[in-house]
Amino acid sequence: MAILKIARMGHPVLGRPADPVSDPAAPAMARLIADMMETMADAQGIGLAAPQVHVPLRIVLFFVPPGRAADPHALEGDPAGPVPLTCLINPEIEPLDDATEDGWEACLSVPGLTGLVPRFKHIRYRGLAPDGRLIDRKAQGFHARVVQHECDHLDGVLYPRRMHDLATLGFVEEIQRSKTPPSDKEEAA
Ligand code: NI
Repeated sequence: MAILKIARMGHPVLGRPADPVSDPAAPAMARLIADMMETMADAQGIGLAAPQVHVPLRIVLFFVPPGRAADPHALEGDPAGPVPLTCLINPEIEPLDDATEDGWEACLSVPGLTGLVPRFKHIRYRGLAPDGRLIDRKAQGFHARVVQHECDHLDGVLYPRRMHDLATLGFVEEIQRSKTPPSDKEEAA
C-alpha cells in the first residue's frame, strides 16, 4: 500500500468529471482503493474521492463516526446512525425531498479552510462495493452531507462552488477562534 499525494484546488483533475469504472473487480481497482484508504487515514479525513489522488475515476470513500451521526446509538443501516468505512464505485445520489440545510465543510483538497454549505437533508444513494455488492442506502444529516461532498468531487465540483455566501469561507483556525465558533468541528473530506 502507499500514501498518495492529494491534489489541491486549482489542479485540473479536481475540475473535470471523472470517468465511470468499467471493471470494478480489476486488481488495479483493489490496489487503488487500498491506497485511498491509507491516504485518507494518514490525512485524518473522513472522506476521499479518487480525483483527489489524481485518479479521474468514480470512486469515493467515507465514514460517519458516532460523534457525527444524528443518532450515535442508532443501529447500523439506520439513516441517522454511524456508518463504517464505505467505498462506493460509480455512485449515484437521489434527493428524497427538497429540504436543505447548511453545515460546515472542509476538504483535503482545500486545506485549512472551511465554509457553510447547503446540502440536501435526505438522500438515497447507490453504488457498487469493491466486492461487487450493490450498496443502496438512505442517509440524512451529516451522512447525507459527506456523500454529497464526495460525489461532487466526481463531477469536478469543490464545496466553495456550492456555497451561497462566500463570507462564511475562512480558515478553520480563525473561525474556531472567533466569538461565534461553529458547533461542529470541521473534518476534511
Ligand atoms: Ni473534499
